[in-house]
Amino acid sequence: MRMRLGRRLAKAAVLVWIGGATAYADEVGDDFRQNCFSCHTIGGGRLTGPDLKDVLKRRDKEWILRFIQGPRKMMDAADAEAVKLRDEFRGVVMPDIAGMTAARAEALLRLISEESKLEKSRFRGLSLIDRPLLPSDAAAGRELFIGVRRLRNGAPSCLSCHTIGGLGGAFGGGALGPDLTQASSRLGGAKALAAWLVSPLTPIMKPVFQKHPVHESEILPLVAFLQAASESERPTGPQSRLPFLIAGVGGGVFLLLAFDSAWRGRLRSVRRRMVARSRLQEGRDE
Ligand code: HEC
Ligand code: HEC
Repeated sequence: MRMRLGRRLAKAAVLVWIGGATAYADEVGDDFRQNCFSCHTIGGGRLTGPDLKDVLKRRDKEWILRFIQGPRKMMDAADAEAVKLRDEFRGVVMPDIAGMTAARAEALLRLISEESKLEKSRFRGLSLIDRPLLPSDAAAGRELFIGVRRLRNGAPSCLSCHTIGGLGGAFGGGALGPDLTQASSRLGGAKALAAWLVSPLTPIMKPVFQKHPVHESEILPLVAFLQAASESERPTGPQSRLPFLIAGVGGGVFLLLAFDSAWRGRLRSVRRRMVARSRLQEGRDE
């Protein structure tokens, strides 16, 4: 009888312990999901940032903790490893995470290390893109992007802050955000871009889209549109090269120069012909 009670108590203690641990893990888990998961998986491959599985095996713990607490500061201080990592990630710098503390960074790193031991971490990544992207997706994405179709959760259209080239023309858009023609390849491809868009964590996008997130049904079309824009920049022929040239300011200047020299040549020859013709005319008149 006593034995049984003892065992029951032990069992209860284990349950309480597990319950406590789960609650704790979930708080940290939520932190990771809300602040890291749009750029990092644990065991699911690269997104905008590196896969964090076993990061402790490849890097010094103190370095990681410092990095999580201030990635920008470390870039500014030209920390050799941070700079190397940034170059590897196409110049994209991890944003400073609001309210990050040493304790939070430690808890996150502990979570990453625990999740790394699992065969399948719950942070392997979402399958936001589970089929090939079609031209019809890109067309739907373009309508959302330019605002012909309104974003479901009420965010302003992407075009109000961004420009983009490609897809047979350059749109004139807002200048608050960067040109997005190369965003997909810059952020690491379609899968990375999709995760990024689910909850953008950069300084200006975050406050806007936290309140009005891109609806899950809108992620795939927007990714398809941005992906197509980024692919159309690959010079495949004169027609696809034109919007790309118009897209950038550098391209615009180049185009102006090209037009200028072409026109100057043509004007000169036209003028020469006109002059010659009028001379002929004059000759006949005489
Ligand atoms: C907007 C994207 C983004 C977010 C959000 C983000 N990171 Fe990063 N992270 C990066 C990028 C990109 C790098 C590569 C270094 C660089 O270029 O800044 C990186 C690098 C790291 C590294 C170094 C990895 C290695 O392989 O050495 C760690 C650790 C890390 N991030 C942890 C976190 C944690 C923890 C969070 C959440 C609190 C987080 N990151 C949020 C983009 C992000
Ligand atoms: C209120 C203005 C605003 C709106 C609306 C907006 N963005 Fe942004 N976006 C920005 C700014 C500013 C940045 C630069 C990072 C930051 O500060 O947030 C940015 C950055 C980005 C980036 C990262 C680009 C890179 O190369 O790092 C992507 C991708 C992006 N936005 C996509 C979108 C999409 C898709 C929409 C529409 C669903 C959208 N944005 C709507 C302002 C906006």
